[in-house]
Amino acid sequence: MRTRAAVLRERNTPWSVEEIELDPPKAGEVLVKLAASGLCHSDEHVVTGDLAGVTPEPPMVGGHEGAGVVVEVGDGVGWLSPGDHVVFGFVPACGRCEWCTIGRSNLCNNGAAFPTGRQIGDGTARHHTLDGHDLGLMCLLGTFAEHTVVNESSCVKIEQNWPLEKACLMGCGVVTGWGSAVYAAGVKPGEYVAVVGAGGIGVNAIQGARHAGARAIAAIDPVEFKRDKAKVFGATHTYASIGAALEGMGDATWGRGYDKVIMTMGVGDGQALGEAFWLGGKAAKIVVTNIHPTAEQSIQISGAMLTLLEKQVIGSLFGSGNIRRDIPRLMELYTQGQLDLDDLITKTYTLDEVNDGYEAMRNGEKIRGVILFD
Ligand SMILES: NC(=O)c1ccc[n+]([C@@H]2O[C@H](COP(=O)([O-])OP(=O)(O)OC[C@H]3O[C@@H](n4cnc5c(N)ncnc54)[C@H](O)[C@@H]3O)[C@@H](O)[C@H]2O)c1
Ligand SMILES: [Zn+2]
Ligand SMILES: [Zn+2]
Repeated sequence: MRTRAAVLRERNTPWSVEEIELDPPKAGEVLVKLAASGLCHSDEHVVTGDLAGVTPEPPMVGGHEGAGVVVEVGDGVGWLSPGDHVVFGFVPACGRCEWCTIGRSNLCNNGAAFPTGRQIGDGTARHHTLDGHDLGLMCLLGTFAEHTVVNESSCVKIEQNWPLEKACLMGCGVVTGWGSAVYAAGVKPGEYVAVVGAGGIGVNAIQGARHAGARAIAAIDPVEFKRDKAKVFGATHTYASIGAALEGMGDATWGRGYDKVIMTMGVGDGQALGEAFWLGGKAAKIVVTNIHPTAEQSIQISGAMLTLLEKQVIGSLFGSGNIRRDIPRLMELYTQGQLDLDDLITKTYTLDEVNDGYEAMRNGEKIRGVILFD
């Protein structure tokens, strides 16, 4: 069939919205009509090359934060039927590999296919340009498209009455941010938490920290609009820079330093991480959720203080969560009014406006932009 998709033809060029050829789903695969796709910063890293080596080379279809309706299933997909509503996990969860079986599906072995962007089942492409090139898929998904074909392990079935334009955010941003606080940082009641970067991921880390009972939550972001939004999600203190947060730390934490520091800047940076390291008090956990450019090879952390104050620096992928537990759980919290998804979406776009959405991200104008499909 023919469908339309935002294709990265070459790095550092705008997304090209074009017709593409889409093959039917093979065994273990699912054809989905997208309803909505969030605009996460990670697709911007693909454009700039900051994720080179771990994402497909152009040409590739962007987008990894999607939700939609199943149109057709391939052989052997017994648990999904046409008409089912699904959210995609940006990391697949096969349910059978070592990591899935120990409850760490965010590290599923199927993620090994990420750099190729080809189908997990047989390593070939279902998506092709009209001029005959195979297309890679961001996170094996390619949600900047009216239709896509993905492996069943990327799908999470959700209730029909959950709004797909909100549910799409579960496919990356919400679970990543919330889980960075609740699972990776393991925020406990009464703790002091600092979140560096109050974008789509950061504000979810803030609401995760609030759920977990943090006593004070500092949001650090150079953009005033982000700091104002951070307060809506539960920030108790806001600062324009890590330096300003360090100055205010004595008052904000009764001189203890932050128990948990969560890094959610647009582009990770070894020097900024070294500075944020000082926000952590004794036995602090510093969670690195933002993505550093793959070419960066150094982070400037005081090794002495790592030991003497028993600090920990840890990475977190997809909020260290489990999509088949966390996506339904967080959607239930949303329907009960305990989780804020409404304030996450600053603006919606058509597929043709995808570049406007990323321009707004670069200008600091939104928390999340979402593409809505017809
Ligand atoms: N680990 C994962 O599983 C995972 C998943 C999704 C996204 N990410 C990464 O998380 C990061 C954030 O993504 P996002 O979609 O929220 O991006 P975003 O652009 O919406 O938000 C980033 C925020 O960081 C702020 N910022 C920039 N420089 C800063 C600085 N020096 N100090 C403080 N704040 C600063 C920006 O103003 C912006 O508000 C990206 O690197 C993205 O690739 C990681
Ligand atoms: Zn993402
Ligand atoms: Zn697995």
